[in-house]
Amino acid sequence: MTVIQSHCKINIGLRIVGKRADGYHNLESVFQETTFGDELFIRKKDRGVKILASDDKVPRDERNLCFQAFLLLKKEFGLRDGLEIEILKNIPMGSGLGGGSSNAAACLLAINALFHLGLTRPQLLRLAAGLGSDVPFFILGKTALVKGRGEVVIPMQFLKEYSILIVVPDLHISTPFIYKNFEMGLTKYSPGIKFEAVVSEVQTLGELKEFFFNDLEGVAKQYHPELAEIHQLLADSGAEFVSMSGSGSAMFGLYREGTDVQVIKDNIPQKYKSFIAKPVT
Ligand code: C5P
Repeated sequence: MTVIQSHCKINIGLRIVGKRADGYHNLESVFQETTFGDELFIRKKDRGVKILASDDKVPRDERNLCFQAFLLLKKEFGLRDGLEIEILKNIPMGSGLGGGSSNAAACLLAINALFHLGLTRPQLLRLAAGLGSDVPFFILGKTALVKGRGEVVIPMQFLKEYSILIVVPDLHISTPFIYKNFEMGLTKYSPGIKFEAVVSEVQTLGELKEFFFNDLEGVAKQYHPELAEIHQLLADSGAEFVSMSGSGSAMFGLYREGTDVQVIKDNIPQKYKSFIAKPVT
């Protein structure tokens, strides 16, 4: 049996660059892996795919990206054995933290090792892109500038020493809905100002808010005003930078090293889920 940590991500800035002919959007974002996540237990079995999960809402069939990841490799390599994947789910689903995508990337990596497939990083990245926009990032993890639909993943050095508080309200936000309702004219800055151009200049957490924003946050707040309340709550708690992750609903605050984030977490209303994490660098 293989045990794997399957961490979540936050988006430090997410800029929509344009709409593509295939209906997806090209974006630019700094993806940051965090220490908070799920745990996967993977073992070979005689045949078929079996998914077990600690949360009833996790799909056990083809809708699960782990299931799809195994079928993809099974087909490509003509694998005869089956697989059992047990998911200890901590990352709230549909929250913009990339839980399903992280699980899928973890499965690709684990199956590659377990079945001795010898897939290289570029091959894994290509297969990951076929599973979902956020999956390629999780093949590499840590910190990366992500472009295109999510398939261009450029590892980078960024801020390292800080704490993260993630707050997730109990709302379902549909990713396609948020992307569909994003209007290019609403972007906060000129499309000419790229994160890529400023990312190496940022030396402190406090400088982030001058350059980084999530284009989808305005749309999400328009339909879910509760997100604006959480933003304010985190800003008032001493966070140096507050933003939404992906298309929401998770909001996060970044705090200077040494801040007692546990005390801040204890004051977050109980109706929200909240998690403390560190960046994986
Ligand atoms: O690829 P994934 O399944 O994560 O995307 C979910 C939905 O989010 C897509 O169907 C699309 O509507 C939207 N999306 C987008 N542009 C992206 C990523 C996602 O329009 N880069």
